[in-house]
Amino acid sequence: MSPIKIGVFDSGLGGLSVLKELVAALPSAQFVYVSDAGHCPYGGKRASEIIDRAEAITDFLLLHSAKLIVVACNTATIAAIESLRASYAVSFVGMEPAVKPAAALTKSGVVGVLATGAALAGEKLHKLIERHAAGVRVLTQPCPGLVERVEAGLVDSAETRVLVRRYVEPLLAEGADVLVLGCTHYPFLRAVIQQEVGPNVALLDTGAAVARRTATVWAAEQPSAAVPGVGGLQLFTSGDPAVVSAVASQLWGSPLLVERMR
Ligand code: DGL
Repeated sequence: MSPIKIGVFDSGLGGLSVLKELVAALPSAQFVYVSDAGHCPYGGKRASEIIDRAEAITDFLLLHSAKLIVVACNTATIAAIESLRASYAVSFVGMEPAVKPAAALTKSGVVGVLATGAALAGEKLHKLIERHAAGVRVLTQPCPGLVERVEAGLVDSAETRVLVRRYVEPLLAEGADVLVLGCTHYPFLRAVIQQEVGPNVALLDTGAAVARRTATVWAAEQPSAAVPGVGGLQLFTSGDPAVVSAVASQLWGSPLLVERMR
């Protein structure tokens, strides 16, 4: 019998920014990760298409012994997590953009949220803003093209910098002093974004918070999994495994082998 695992998925490799935190929080857990590179980006897709992909990946993760699934993608969380929870018996942990901590941190009273078009189109994000950012001006900024730059491994290139500048300038012009990285790909662009916004603007993401939440759910649901083990990581992609392995290794900082998802 194969050991129980924590499933993790994203439209591509952005979810590795969450997986890093998960591995740090749960070093003895076994993880199985899916990069849906064959269907990336999700940011321009309709919610129904994203739900179809999320279901296909969930079926695959369950076949690979996942007993808890982390939706390491803001766009898929916003579009699909309610439908996933209604359709499957396993627990799902999703992303929540750092709107609440951003509202608590801002001194200027202006916060910017960088996210994909589909994430910004979802009602869930706007409800989050209404609930947690009363009295704060929250400006949302879609960032088409950034996910593709990360997927291509072009994290620190001139074109990436031009795109980042285009997206942050209007937010800075309005006085934003905190930016929410509302897509799991963006932490890989943190250095470039920080250089463009300068040292006085804070950048917030929620990878570590999601890892803590996952650890709590995992401990409650699988107490036997708390027994120290060796941990482990298996990665699959619906895209080209050679290309995805190369970029995954670059983003992870050590070699990762990504297998074809069948
Ligand atoms: N990492 C995904 C997110 O957090 C990117 C979505 C996309 O593929 O556009 O939203």
